[in-house]
Amino acid sequence: MSLPRHLAIIMDGNGRWARQRALPRILGHRQGVEAVRDVVEECSRLGIGWLTLYAFSHENWGRPEEEVGALMDLLASYLGKELEGMLRHGIRLNVIGDIARMPASVRAMLLDTMERTRHQQGMVLTLALSYGSRDELVRAMRSLAAALAAGELTAADIDEQALAARLDTVGLPDPDLLIRTSGEMRISNFLLWQLAYTELYFTETLWPDFKPTHLHEALHVFAQRERRFGLTGEQLREGPKQGGGSH
Ligand code: IPE
Ligand code: IPE
Ligand code: MG
Repeated sequence: MSLPRHLAIIMDGNGRWARQRALPRILGHRQGVEAVRDVVEECSRLGIGWLTLYAFSHENWGRPEEEVGALMDLLASYLGKELEGMLRHGIRLNVIGDIARMPASVRAMLLDTMERTRHQQGMVLTLALSYGSRDELVRAMRSLAAALAAGELTAADIDEQALAARLDTVGLPDPDLLIRTSGEMRISNFLLWQLAYTELYFTETLWPDFKPTHLHEALHVFAQRERRFGLTGEQLREGPKQGGGSH
């Protein structure tokens, strides 16, 4: 079965999971962390190279202060508990997003965990935190503009590679598969550039209920897809030929 090299997940539905049980939203987030643990471990076991989890968006800063604070606390506790498991499984932690906005204590833990797992050779686990794709693109364009103003680049040097090299995702392959839980069929400002040719998979399952069996189902569906990258099915079956695209 062909596995995605890079799997990205929009982990949605924690609030509704809690509401269905008449619990506070934060208990939904807490249960969501359990799902993260199982899915990370299963992806690593399966040999997926890159896993990217949308954990907190740029727009999520607008949620009630209490919920934001609880999410930051949960993240800190997750990092504290998971370091040992990451080291055991060879997982390398990476972060995308405007982490300058994260509380200093959480930022310090993130940097420390990244440093300690830096040389590991297994799966790269990327957490999207304070992440918004438009924000990321604006920051990348600002960096291009600065390079242009400094005379390090000319307009003709600005191509797809030059922009991609300034995105937070530099060094990561584009996702092959995106899973979004909880039945919402939208991207919510996640990896707009990087998802250009990603296969999309939506499931009604709420994130806290998402188990390795749900992951297997999504991977099974992915394996049946024919990815054409703008070419014809016949061209793909004939084998690689020259084309206009970069794939
Ligand atoms: C996803 O669950 C987690 C975060 C966005 C941090 P939600 O909190 O969005 O849950 P719903 O969508 O309200 O059910
Ligand atoms: C997307 O979920 C962000 C994360 C899962 C972290 P949201 O719940 O914030 O997205 P919308 O508001 O439903 O689009
Ligand atoms: Mg949501």
